[in-house]
Amino acid sequence: MTEHIQFSPEKDALVLLDQRYLPTREDWFDCKTTDDIVEALIVMVVRGAPAIGVTAAYGCYLAGREVAGNSDWKVELEKNLDKIENARPTAVNLRWAVREMKRVWQESGDVSLDELCAVWLKRAKEIHVDDIRMCEDIGKFGGELMDDGDTIMTHCNAGALATAGYGTALGVVHGAVDQGKKVQVIANETRPFLQGARLTAYELHRDGIPVKVACDNACALLMKKGLVQKVVVGADRIAANGDAVNKIGTYGVALLAREFGIPFYVAAPVYTIDPETPTGDDVPIEDRTPTEVTHIGEHRITPEGVEVFNFAFDSTPNELIAGIITEKGVLRPPYIEAIKKLYSEED
Ligand code: MRU
Repeated sequence: MTEHIQFSPEKDALVLLDQRYLPTREDWFDCKTTDDIVEALIVMVVRGAPAIGVTAAYGCYLAGREVAGNSDWKVELEKNLDKIENARPTAVNLRWAVREMKRVWQESGDVSLDELCAVWLKRAKEIHVDDIRMCEDIGKFGGELMDDGDTIMTHCNAGALATAGYGTALGVVHGAVDQGKKVQVIANETRPFLQGARLTAYELHRDGIPVKVACDNACALLMKKGLVQKVVVGADRIAANGDAVNKIGTYGVALLAREFGIPFYVAAPVYTIDPETPTGDDVPIEDRTPTEVTHIGEHRITPEGVEVFNFAFDSTPNELIAGIITEKGVLRPPYIEAIKKLYSEED
């Protein structure tokens, strides 16, 4: 697939495939300023935890270019970085990327703005490339957990469009295929933004991997019928105790998986684990615009004046998770110990 996140040196801009219009239209969205980046993140031109981390990293570079010529550039730049970091609250990858760029700035000492931008662009490109490798390693480890003939259910989109590589949850699917296993996927449609119906189905269909879309509320029936052998999802943030925050509805899928004895896996890079957040209940849950629920496209589906819920994520308690598949290997319960060990090996 054409890369959906591209840095264009000619335009000095980040060019993003606009995911709002997939699969019917392939439009591109140019980001040249901090406000462009923040808009792309908020309206979900680009979405998915690793992809928004990569976007934020390039965003810091663009924020730097934007303050050129400003006598107070350091103060203005700090403000721009804060805007990017706070565009969406749940995925830790966004915060991670901006803090990583701040760390690089601090380590660079008393550099000029031009020098800082050069260092930041190089670091953003490294973060971009690292994500591709992490997906492949997650795919390798996760693929080994899948069996020939499995039907794998996934929720939301944790594929190429959510990362810079071939995905985390969908990376596991690709890993299994690369290992010669015949697997198929059930993509839960994922109301209200329909990441499953629009994006997961688009990617897998294009890649020749058998996929069927199911309404979110078909999950119990499909599991009861024995049509699901594994569940694999991504994560926006994993707490220090292994609770995994992912797209709204994931918790329900995990509860049903336990009821029917189906292994439920979470696939995510190590930096999605946030040791600063003790449990899933401590993760800020994004509350998005009501119009995503009240409307389908331009068409209103709820009566005027009726309020709706639009929490974008929920937290799956660690006891429902059979394994957390990372680029360093598969973590198993008890997760507090497994995560502590992982971080002590990182230091
Ligand atoms: O609101 P979104 O589309 O950004 O939510 C995305 C998800 O919930 C993904 O499952 C998660 O970010 C993991 S992506 C590899």
